[in-house]
Amino acid sequence: MSILNLAVFASGRGSNCAAIHRAITENKLKAKICVIVSNQPDAGVLDFADKNAIPRFYISSENFSSKDEFYKQLFLTLDMHQVQFIVLAGYMKKIGTPLIRKYPNRILNIHPALLPSFGGKGMYGMYVHEAVIKYGAKVSGITIHLVDEEYDHGAIVMQKCLEVSPDDTPESLGKRIQQLEYDTYWQAIQLFAENRVAINNRKVIINNC
Ligand code: GAR
Repeated sequence: MSILNLAVFASGRGSNCAAIHRAITENKLKAKICVIVSNQPDAGVLDFADKNAIPRFYISSENFSSKDEFYKQLFLTLDMHQVQFIVLAGYMKKIGTPLIRKYPNRILNIHPALLPSFGGKGMYGMYVHEAVIKYGAKVSGITIHLVDEEYDHGAIVMQKCLEVSPDDTPESLGKRIQQLEYDTYWQAIQLFAENRVAINNRKVIINNC
């Protein structure tokens, strides 16, 4: 089986990136993180990259005179590292059409709730768990989905749920959700590494044989 060359895009501390890396080192996920890209110069994920000798780049559209220049630099970076598949792990920036066209059905995102609930612009990190608790939802969970032009909208590859307890705070719920993310995200990536995913009209079909 060949190894899937990944780019991880992240804006924050990168604990999901670390969990994916762990699954690779434990030989559960047949992939390689070839490059880490962040839109935040001080993101913890960049330190993680340095500690693990993974090439890393801070690339923000704000530092380029045009979108064309930004994509030129981004594509050069991805091509240079022979990236086949992009994993968003807490990347707080909308993915633009040029990147989606370059990697059709090859960009995966993780969202810390059960989409289509509690998603969309401004719904990220702790805001999601606050909204879930405020609404009084009895279950929450995670959604791993392909990325399209709309926020939190692409075809769903995998979902896992857990119960929200009456005593939960956004922090306690967030902790359990993150553990679920660490246990699950690599499994969804592995499906693509094994070439077991077919997409037909928004429906993701997993080949089980
Ligand atoms: C993760 O919980 C992920 O689900 C969330 O950001 C966190 C990143 O944490 N993503 C979103 O909310 C996207 N809408 P990490 O930097 O520790 O991996």
